[in-house]
Amino acid sequence: MRILVTGGAGYIGSHTCVELLNEGYDVVVIDNLYNSSAKALDRVQEITGKSLTFYQADLLDQPAIDAILDQETIDAVIHFAGYKAVGESVQKPIEYYHNNMTGTLLLCDSMRRHGIKNIIFSSSATVYGDPAMILITEECPKKTPTNPYGQTKTMLEQVLIDIRKSDPEWNVILLRYFNPIGAHKSGKIGEDPKGIPNNLLPYVAQVAIGKLPSIGVFGNDYDTPDGTGVRDYIHVVDLARGHVKALAKFNEEKDVRIYNLGTGHGYSVLQVISAFSKACGRELPYVIKPRRAGDIATCYCDPDKARRELGWVAEYGIDEMCMDSWNWQQKNPNGYAD
Ligand code: NAD
Ligand code: UFG
Repeated sequence: MRILVTGGAGYIGSHTCVELLNEGYDVVVIDNLYNSSAKALDRVQEITGKSLTFYQADLLDQPAIDAILDQETIDAVIHFAGYKAVGESVQKPIEYYHNNMTGTLLLCDSMRRHGIKNIIFSSSATVYGDPAMILITEECPKKTPTNPYGQTKTMLEQVLIDIRKSDPEWNVILLRYFNPIGAHKSGKIGEDPKGIPNNLLPYVAQVAIGKLPSIGVFGNDYDTPDGTGVRDYIHVVDLARGHVKALAKFNEEKDVRIYNLGTGHGYSVLQVISAFSKACGRELPYVIKPRRAGDIATCYCDPDKARRELGWVAEYGIDEMCMDSWNWQQKNPNGYAD
């Protein structure tokens, strides 16, 4: 099978390319490199000893995407490409709605015209908002997201469901990721945020490497065991493997399928700092700061549907996630810039 991976040079995309190549799939990547480096794809090929086809192109440039699809015979699309920074999306709603919504609509239109109707979409736990229940199952009601990024995820889920309704030839899989962290064991690929990181793990990693002085813990007065926010951190390699497992569903009855991809375990900010301190061999300094606007106390999932229907279970725990993240950070203190 030949798989088109949009956003394949990015953090989750590059790890997914490794797992796809390892499982014998042919891989075609489209990425405009807005938030990534072509070096990630060189490293994917180094890790696997296999080659992939890369097109530097923008999903908003439909003639370019059509030209690629004219040339390639694609069986299924894994669609990662999009903007993903929650805070930035509040400042730049037009850019976020345009890139994420228009980019996906144009992609689906090109896919339809080329007779490609299998798609896996990167959705997010953000669609559950402040979740109505813990553990979060796929039946947990969606809530209105508090930021444009989250809105694009929830709306694009609906767009894909409506496309499937209009044409039963479509096969749609919505994967709702919890908090992906960690890096490939080789330390050759990992998360490479631009500027000061917004997310916890890259921030902790930059404190560990000495680029930032101390971690700000956003609130210690939540209703959680130690008062800090609890999340379902999942190793990015486990997450990548979830996509490979999901592809097998395209051989079954055409449908819309929705899966949570998480571990089912919640870790607090202080537990993450402690696990990372163990990984890097020194106590990392932190200061308690006020809560961050829009944050929720607790978010972790019931991943049992993915286990039952995809045969997928996350293998790695928080210690391994932190060790692999630290390995990547040490080997690439400046990300792909070196
Ligand atoms: P990333 O920014 O590392 O990867 C996204 C890639 O898409 C980048 O390489 C970027 O250059 C590319 N891209 C963006 N707009 C494009 C366009 N118009 N045309 C072509 N390429 C374009 O992000 P990631 O962390 O790997 O996330 C991948 C997907 O998973 C995103 O859709 C994101 O919203 C979703 N997701 C991520 C997380 C997370 O915490 N990382 C959680 C839930 C969902
Ligand atoms: N946190 C800190 N200090 C920091 C950064 C984060 O204490 O410097 C805390 C947050 O308050 C939260 C936890 O660490 O309790 C995790 O925060 P992240 O920013 O790493 O992740 P979020 O859970 O806020 O959100 C992430 C993505 C969203 C996605 C969501 C679920 O940014 O896009 O996971 O997948 F929707």
